[in-house]
Amino acid sequence: MRMTPLVVLLGSFIVVFSVVIGNVILPPQVFHPAPSPNARPYTALELEGRESYVRNGCVYCHSQDARPMDWGNGSGMASQPGDYAYDSPHLIGSERQGPDLSHEAGYHTDDWHWAHFEDPRYTRPQSFMPDFSYIQGRERVALIAYMQCLGGRDGVARAAQQARLKVNLIKYYQKGPAENIPYLQSTFPPGWVNKIPNPVPVTSGSVERGRVLYVAYCAGCHGEAGDGRGPAKPYLNPPPMDFTLVQASGASTQGGQPGYHYDYRKNEVSSISQGAIYYAVLYGIPGSAMPQFKGQLESEKIWDVGNYVGWAFMGWKLEPYTGRYEELTRRPWEHTWEIGQPRVARADAPVPNVGR
Ligand code: HEC
Ligand code: HEC
Repeated sequence: MRMTPLVVLLGSFIVVFSVVIGNVILPPQVFHPAPSPNARPYTALELEGRESYVRNGCVYCHSQDARPMDWGNGSGMASQPGDYAYDSPHLIGSERQGPDLSHEAGYHTDDWHWAHFEDPRYTRPQSFMPDFSYIQGRERVALIAYMQCLGGRDGVARAAQQARLKVNLIKYYQKGPAENIPYLQSTFPPGWVNKIPNPVPVTSGSVERGRVLYVAYCAGCHGEAGDGRGPAKPYLNPPPMDFTLVQASGASTQGGQPGYHYDYRKNEVSSISQGAIYYAVLYGIPGSAMPQFKGQLESEKIWDVGNYVGWAFMGWKLEPYTGRYEELTRRPWEHTWEIGQPRVARADAPVPNVGR
């Protein structure tokens, strides 16, 4: 056939239309997966929130699709076709400027969302998500209800558990830090509160690394001065902990002695122990806005930021210089490894066998 302009035009129309028919028009007609066990229909309020989600362009930055390869990044189960049975059109999205939201429900509390929509920098100082403070009143309530249903039945159950736990958190917050701190720590595994040693010494280096992390992750809520008066505070109930009250509160979970006493070898550094800070940062405090950081901060960073909080706001002292770091960086043949022996270079150390 000769390539006349008419043939080229017709041919390209056929290509375009077959793509549109195959990818856009046919699938919704023929593909009706049965709802998965986790799928649930939306309530009227959630549907309102869904409309707001579409209207405000959230889908341009957030996907709703946990892919099988996201597993290692800590997402929930991979999405199934049946998870979208009640979605028309689906909001899978193709961009991930922000986190995937397919299991968002119950990941944060309602008050966290309230502060986050007011201005994302309140809860995450380095966020580039635009602020949605113009979404007010019922529309914001609906949008939050929609966030708290993403993730199907499991997600709704998580969100309900957050709401249940909040009741006690508020009660103990109102009793003041002397009762609140022991209560919070009673919800953590006891080994974490009393036993686990801090592997990262409270040195000036650790504290400085922790300061950078604190400003980037914690200051929006706990405030730059650690007094719980970050910009998110007015939206949160219970409000962020005021670390500067911890010593004065007289609360103690360690050895029954009230108040502040310092013995870093026994890990008795303050009424909030190093292990308790680690646990709170790792898993968050379910029911409060305190988020979990396990997907964002490696273990060493959590110890560092905890060391900063303790040193800057709760009166921990820097550990005396032990040479521990030099010890670790010393070449192996300079050590004697017997436990309890002073670790000094031995004159009779074997000459390293280079190139073996
Ligand atoms: C320009 C891109 C962008 C847009 C538009 C956007 N977000 Fe975000 N979103 C982000 C980024 C980046 C983060 C991660 C930092 C943070 O927590 O703010 C985020 C975080 C979130 C989180 C917290 C997720 C988590 O698990 O911690 C939620 C919920 C959320 N966004 C909802 C929305 C909703 C609802 C809208 C629309 C009203 C929206 N976003 C619009 C970029 C965006
Ligand atoms: C979105 C707000 C928010 C952010 C961000 C946040 N927190 Fe919190 N945090 C809270 C709230 C709220 C509480 C108090 C819960 C209560 O009193 O029931 C809390 C409590 C705590 C506690 C007390 C735990 C205990 O054992 O008593 C520690 C420690 C803590 N946060 C450390 C941090 C650190 C470190 C960061 C940054 C890596 C951080 N928080 C980020 C809101 C936040």
